[in-house]
Amino acid sequence: MSQPLLDVRGLVVEYGHGRDLHRAVDDVSFQVPRGGSLAVVGESGSGKSTIAKALVRLVRPTAGSIVFDGVDLAQLTDRRLRPLRHRVQMVFQDPYGSLDPHLSAQEIVAEPLAARGERSRRVRERRAAELLDQVGLPTSALHRRPAEFSGGQRQRIGIARALASEPDLLVCDEATSALDVSVQAQVLDILAGLRRDQGLTFLFISHNLGVVRAVSDEVLVLRTGRVVERGPTTEVLRRPREEYTRQLRRSVLEPALISGRKPRDLVRRIAAARTAESVAAA
Ligand SMILES: Nc1ncnc2c1ncn2[C@@H]1O[C@H](COP(=O)(O)OP(=O)(O)OP(=O)(O)O)[C@@H](O)[C@H]1O
Ligand SMILES: [Mg+2]
Repeated sequence: MSQPLLDVRGLVVEYGHGRDLHRAVDDVSFQVPRGGSLAVVGESGSGKSTIAKALVRLVRPTAGSIVFDGVDLAQLTDRRLRPLRHRVQMVFQDPYGSLDPHLSAQEIVAEPLAARGERSRRVRERRAAELLDQVGLPTSALHRRPAEFSGGQRQRIGIARALASEPDLLVCDEATSALDVSVQAQVLDILAGLRRDQGLTFLFISHNLGVVRAVSDEVLVLRTGRVVERGPTTEVLRRPREEYTRQLRRSVLEPALISGRKPRDLVRRIAAARTAESVAAA
């Protein structure tokens, strides 16, 4: 057996201090083989994004190891981590917040190329155009800014930007995704294609058990920071052992998600839940 690309053991992440200390991720372990795809599912607040953030060092783990290609990222100083950073990229599925509103799509995607030392502006622009083409955006999109795109198109820009760093591992956090079902399916298609054609490794985070089947071989079910179930995606979908997983499968409409949502978002979520159910039942 070859070494997994990502080997996470005993991961603990806490927020706050003293009385406000909150353990968001509690002793989580998992492995992702090279070219593999692991889904992390769980209700809102279960710790999914916190795991993703620990992987890209947006938060520091309290304990545990994150061994990536043989190196424990959890132990590295920021300086030591820097040359490795490009290899683990995150695609935020709330692209509103993560794309610089003042830059054009082409500039957004070219930025990581400059950061990695590509001096020629012409080369950067050409590569950015190629990457945007690869995720299915037309040439006419190059000079438009994030506000001029739809949610699905913004997500593609986010993917192209992540690819510009030539990562080995893509961490996709779709937590706040409000994309409608057909757009979501298109984006999932792009991700599946990247895995097939370029051998990218995926950690795919979702509320939605139905959606993950399209992109992940294995699934890890999280509840209040702990792993409650894991296994091959098809098996967990067909025969969930935990009532919690059954509930997740039935619906993506947890109360925490409903509160504060606009009716339009709710309608979308209900449609997404139905699709997920029919996918899961199929
Ligand atoms: N910066 C922070 N400071 C304090 N607590 C936080 C912070 N970020 C997250 N938390 C808490 O940690 C827990 C896990 O949050 P996390 O964002 O990882 O959940 P999630 O599974 O991604 O949820 P969602 O599906 O809603 O995105 C929650 O209880 C949350 O309130
Ligand atoms: Mg989240």
